[in-house]
Amino acid sequence: MTYEDLRGKVVLVTGGSRGIGRAMALAFLGAGARVAVNYKTHEAAARDLRQKAGSDLGIFQADVSVREEVKNMFLEIKKSFGDVDVLVNNAGVMKTSTIDSFDEKLFMDMFRVNVLGTIYCTLEALPAMKKKHHGSIVNVTSNAVLGTAVAGTTYYAMTKAAVMMFTRRLAFEGGSNGIRANALAPGWTETDMTVAGRAEEEVAKTKRSYVEKTSLGYVGKPEDMAKLALFLASDDSWPMTGQMLVADGGRLDNLSHSL
Ligand SMILES: NC(=O)c1ccc[n+]([C@@H]2O[C@H](COP(=O)([O-])OP(=O)(O)OC[C@H]3O[C@@H](n4cnc5c(N)ncnc54)[C@H](OP(=O)(O)O)[C@@H]3O)[C@@H](O)[C@H]2O)c1
Repeated sequence: MTYEDLRGKVVLVTGGSRGIGRAMALAFLGAGARVAVNYKTHEAAARDLRQKAGSDLGIFQADVSVREEVKNMFLEIKKSFGDVDVLVNNAGVMKTSTIDSFDEKLFMDMFRVNVLGTIYCTLEALPAMKKKHHGSIVNVTSNAVLGTAVAGTTYYAMTKAAVMMFTRRLAFEGGSNGIRANALAPGWTETDMTVAGRAEEEVAKTKRSYVEKTSLGYVGKPEDMAKLALFLASDDSWPMTGQMLVADGGRLDNLSHSL
C-alpha cells in the first residue's frame, strides 16, 4: 500500500517526541504528510526530531490533559500547517498499582492524560473534519483492554477501555460526517514507558517472557505500531471504523481461549 491519500495531509500525533508516537510521526512524514508532533516535557527529544525531519514536521508543546493548552495547540497547528486531517491520540501514561493500593491522585492523573487528553484533542479536531466531510482518528489503546495486562495495570487498562468505548461511539456519531475512528492496541512495546529506569538484565528477562507469551515469539517495536497507524489513518482502511486492531504478536493467554 502506498497511502497516497496521506500525501500533503496534516497529521497530528500527540505524544510524538518519543517511543511509539515518534515512530508514527516519522512514518507519516515518510508517507508525504505534514506532521504536527505534540509533546509535553521532553523538548530536547522533540527538537531532535524536528531537526532530523525538516520543515514538513513541526513540534507543539502542550499538556493534552489541559483543555486550554489543547485549544492553543490546535490554533498554532492551524497557523503553521492548516486544519488537522488525521488525529492520532497517542499520548499516554501508565501508572501501576495493585487494586488494593489504589491511589486516587495517581489514577486521576492517568485518567486525565489517557482519557480526557483523547477527548480534548478530538473535540478540537472534529469541527474542521465535519466541514471537509472527511477525517480519520486513530486512538492508541492497549491489549490491556482485552484483559491480558500484567499485574499492576488494572487501572491503566480501565483508562484504555474507556478510550476504546470512546472510539466506538465516535465512529457511530462521526460516520454521517465522513469521519472514521479506529483504535490501535499495541502489546508490550519497547519504549521508555516499559524499559526506562530498569536494569539491562530485567529488560532482557521481560523481553524473554513476552516472547514466550506470544504466538509469534514477538517483542513489540514502535515501527510496527507506526505501520498500522498509517493503515488506520489512510483511506486504504476505509470502510473500517469503530474497530480495534490488536498488535501484540498473538498473546497466547488471549488466543488460547478459543482452544
Ligand atoms: N509501550 C507499550 O508497551 C505500550 C503498550 C500498549 C499501549 N501503549 C500506549 O502507546 C502510547 C505511547 O506509549 P509509549 O510506550 O511510546 O510511551 P513513552 O515512550 O512513555 O512516550 C510517551 C509520549 O507521550 C507524551 N506524553 C505523556 N503525557 C503527556 C501529556 N500530558 N501531554 C502530551 N504528551 C504527553 C510524552 O511526551 P514527553 O516526551 O514530552 O514526555 C511522550 O512523547 C501510550 O498511549 C501508551 O499507553 C504502549
